[in-house]
Amino acid sequence: MRRFSTVRRVTPRYAQIVGWGKGLPVRAMHNREFEALVDTSDEWIRSRTGIVERRIVGPNESTVTLATAAARQALAAADLDPRRIDLIIVATCTPDTLMPAAAPLVQQAIGATRAGAIDVNAACAGFAYALVMANGMIAAGTHHNILVIGADTLSRWVDWTDRSVCVLFGDGAGAVVLQATDTPTGLFGAQLRADGAGAGLLCVPGGGTRMPPTAETIAAGAHFIHMDGPAVFKFAIQILTESTRDVLAQAGLEVGDIDLFVPHQANKRIIDSAMRAVGIPEDKVFINLDRYGNTSAASIPIALCEAIESGRMRPGDNVLMCGFGAGLTWGTALFQWGVPTDVPASDQWRLAGQSIVTSHHDRALAIARRAVGSRGSR
Ligand code: UT7
Repeated sequence: MRRFSTVRRVTPRYAQIVGWGKGLPVRAMHNREFEALVDTSDEWIRSRTGIVERRIVGPNESTVTLATAAARQALAAADLDPRRIDLIIVATCTPDTLMPAAAPLVQQAIGATRAGAIDVNAACAGFAYALVMANGMIAAGTHHNILVIGADTLSRWVDWTDRSVCVLFGDGAGAVVLQATDTPTGLFGAQLRADGAGAGLLCVPGGGTRMPPTAETIAAGAHFIHMDGPAVFKFAIQILTESTRDVLAQAGLEVGDIDLFVPHQANKRIIDSAMRAVGIPEDKVFINLDRYGNTSAASIPIALCEAIESGRMRPGDNVLMCGFGAGLTWGTALFQWGVPTDVPASDQWRLAGQSIVTSHHDRALAIARRAVGSRGSR
């Protein structure tokens, strides 16, 4: 009988981000437009959430079209042929259709003919989940290039007469290409958790197998987003605070070792309160919810993409991302971006995938070694 020999990897494999992109609807909707729809005001929305405008899909746009645009940009930034992608993971809770998933449609659209394709539904925490899963597959040696996309179009499920929900959400997609490398970089710490006891706090009750659509469920509004805002607000602050602390401790790093915090962009008050509690200064927190609102699984990858393109992140920087949302679910990932360099900020994003050894490299590598060492000693 033929026996399989045990393959042992001598060199550990890490996953680095080598490409990034975003896809956004054309139409921007300002707070003032809601004043004609519901009893609200630009001032209320700004002061209670930090949101000023959001993007809303039109008739020819959808989760898949946005995800495809983000994926194409990420592949271009990575200078990677789509046929070299091994797997596409789309984090979404709003796929174009309940079946099939969004990922195979993106796979076909971008011509990733040798890729597997799946969706992950962890709502607003989806991108962190997908990133950690993709990292594990690369570390296992079974995959080399994985496209990780966060994409949602929650505007399709919003009740435009419910002022406590409709003003919050926007549509969009963000994508990264994760690639295998032998250099210690990438994921240094992660926490993926859930508390299903809070499932009813944020949900779309109808449309699934428990409550298939009927004229009655539609009339009752069961296909809209239902949310207990204040309860989710408290949960979000607690999770963002505790999970950030947990993951830093897990990686053996201090707040000062983190170059940029990219929290899920749900509400500026949630972010401010948690960052104050953890002791993270405002200038280390990336915020773009004023322009996009809460884009669910897309919020972190869109923010990552804009942080890189605006020079807020240098290759070798440590970024801490934390997503939280329906489930309840939350996911936190501490990720070193690319390989350290001291290339001028304007050029860094173009060179993220290249191994350029510099002065910034020393600090970044020391942190990487500490984090990898702390991971190994658990
Ligand atoms: O990705 C995770 C998804 N969800 C979230 O992150 C949402 C988390 N929750 C929140 O962000 C906040 O709870 C909201 C922004 C949704 C609401 O802010 P809040 O400060 O918690 O307000 P509230 O729900 O306690 O409501 C205060 C008042 C209420 O009126 P009364 O009962 O005091 O007369 C609401 O009816 O504000 C009213 N209100 C509004 N007023 C004007 C609720 N929404 C609006 C609105 N415009 N859009």
